[in-house]
Amino acid sequence: MRKAVCPGSFDPVTNGHLDIISRASALFDHVTVGVLVNQSKAGLFSVEERMKMLNTITEPFENVSVESFSGLLVDFCKDHEISAIVKGLRAVTDFDYELQMSQMNHRLTGIETLFVSTNPIYGYLSSSLVKEIAGHGGDVSGLVPDSVLQQLTDRLAT
Ligand code: PNS
Repeated sequence: MRKAVCPGSFDPVTNGHLDIISRASALFDHVTVGVLVNQSKAGLFSVEERMKMLNTITEPFENVSVESFSGLLVDFCKDHEISAIVKGLRAVTDFDYELQMSQMNHRLTGIETLFVSTNPIYGYLSSSLVKEIAGHGGDVSGLVPDSVLQQLTDRLAT
């Protein structure tokens, strides 16, 4: 069975993330969405909330599941017998850091990283920009799934 992970913070998940997850699900037998538990950085949403959002929007994909992880991504992959990491590349600005991580991860356990070029309609999209724009009352509909949009609006209103 060919298994891959789509790792990230997903605070919150965007339509760009969903695009990468759906494309990975077409390439692999099983895809785990790995939500990073980052003790040193409080997010807008808790890890449980992010996982719930991801579970809702990935429901149509039978071969996608959602899990959280802490520590090294390569250890999570080893524990789950995952042999590939799938990441989206938006622009050349992503490349340096992503290349560095993929080479380090490969050195650690030999795991491969596959880069999927982001759909150009989401090339400028990031969770942090979405939060900033929504936080100032800007319109982020179409950038995040509808179910996330509602929760984002509610959270930023409180
Ligand atoms: O969505 P993000 O925050 O850009 O995702 C980054 C992520 C989660 C893929 C990366 O920070 C990661 O893999 N963290 C786990 C810790 C780890 O393995 N660090 C070594 C990387 S070489």
